[in-house]
Amino acid sequence: MTVTIVGSQLGDEGKGGIVDLYGDDVDVVARYQGGDNAGHTVVHEGEEYKLSLVPSGAIRGKVGVLGNGCVVNPRTLFDEIDTLQDRGLDPDVRIAERAHVILPFHRVLDGIEEKVKSETDQEVGTTGRGIGPTYEDKAGRRGVRVGDLLDPDVLRERLEYVVPQKRAVVEDVYGLDIDELEDPDVLDVDAIFEEFREFGRRFEAEDMTVNAGAFLSATIDEGQNVMLEGAQGTIIDIDHGNYPYVTSSNPTAGGAATGTGLSPGVVGDGEVIGIVKAYLTRVGSGPLPTELGGVVGDTPDYDEQGEGENEELANYIREEGGEYGTVTGRPRRVGWLDLPMLRHSTRVSGFTGIAINHLDVLAGLDEVKVGHTYTLDGEELASMPATTEQWARCEANFKTFDGWPEVDWQAAASEGYDALPENAKTYVEYIESELDTPAYAIGVGPGRGETIVREQPF
Ligand code: IMP
Repeated sequence: MTVTIVGSQLGDEGKGGIVDLYGDDVDVVARYQGGDNAGHTVVHEGEEYKLSLVPSGAIRGKVGVLGNGCVVNPRTLFDEIDTLQDRGLDPDVRIAERAHVILPFHRVLDGIEEKVKSETDQEVGTTGRGIGPTYEDKAGRRGVRVGDLLDPDVLRERLEYVVPQKRAVVEDVYGLDIDELEDPDVLDVDAIFEEFREFGRRFEAEDMTVNAGAFLSATIDEGQNVMLEGAQGTIIDIDHGNYPYVTSSNPTAGGAATGTGLSPGVVGDGEVIGIVKAYLTRVGSGPLPTELGGVVGDTPDYDEQGEGENEELANYIREEGGEYGTVTGRPRRVGWLDLPMLRHSTRVSGFTGIAINHLDVLAGLDEVKVGHTYTLDGEELASMPATTEQWARCEANFKTFDGWPEVDWQAAASEGYDALPENAKTYVEYIESELDTPAYAIGVGPGRGETIVREQPF
């Protein structure tokens, strides 16, 4: 069977920890979208691993697959694999032949476009990993796929088509001189060919490429368990998120089918677990109706650091929760939990269960708020509106909960749900009831042992 892990908010909900938590029962972990814009922190035997591409399960000896819906930067991939090997691990990672390759100019174009957009305050705040430009080329039918790296003739043919177009974009659209770029080789067919053909040889030598759909179907037919690991989150989904402040793929459960080659029926027969952070964070631009304070440069119309009560609270939560980007180190914007957002995410992906993370971070506050509904143009809304402009006009209607004390979370995790402070349970049960979805797991600390497990999905 499959268990699909989906971020219900804006990414960084702690998906890696939940993948890891249920990992013992898993034979294969497959990522279905995104690339090295993702960041997973996994603590294994006291060691912390920060990964952006290698699926988290691969550090525990599981087979890790990057599905066809992913965009793969082989430089990052091999860096991560080599680092893990240096630390004594031997990750077994397979890459879909249909996955698209992030080429050096994709990153450069990502940066150039963000810079141009920033002149009119339209930047997305991307991770700069070339994600958008690579998916653009995929949709434009001019991309290079992992399978193409295995065949020198095909690779050269594809590069000879696409690189001159990109050179023209850089020179004629953006008016830049390629020779003055930091590394002009990013737009040189021969240089790219040499480097990426070498990656292809390594893929081949280490037998790393697969037909992901066929590989995963066969795994399931053999009675093995497959975890489908989403990156990012619902509100930065290209279709269901707040466009254009989104990533360029589908983190929602539908993406688990298209991004692996398993049918929607197979995915739907399994469990779909929505990962919920007990409050809200966001990296990059775009609205956030329950935001506390703001981050200069990311929060719209927030040009100067404020010093009010909400800023203090945001800073406190950011420090307690370690809310800085795994990939970029940027401070994350912080807000209260947003129920209209979670109702939207629950509908889009059909969560059969949720996992609530970081409940411990809120401990010690006098009160904890949630955005229960929105008011938009005088009307109360229980779920998110479809356009970002409408969402930006939404005002959150808050519900206030009494806070809960700091306790020995490790002990609470081993004793189980009943050991949680009463007010924390009230908070959890409110979320369960509003989403009509049971909480399978509750994270009260970063380690694997600091999670209350109420349901084993496999
Ligand atoms: P991109 O995916 O690099 O194109 O970035 C698009 C938007 O998604 C930006 O607002 C990023 O901050 C956000 N984003 C991308 N990946 C992640 C992630 O793993 N966690 C949180 N936000 C992300």
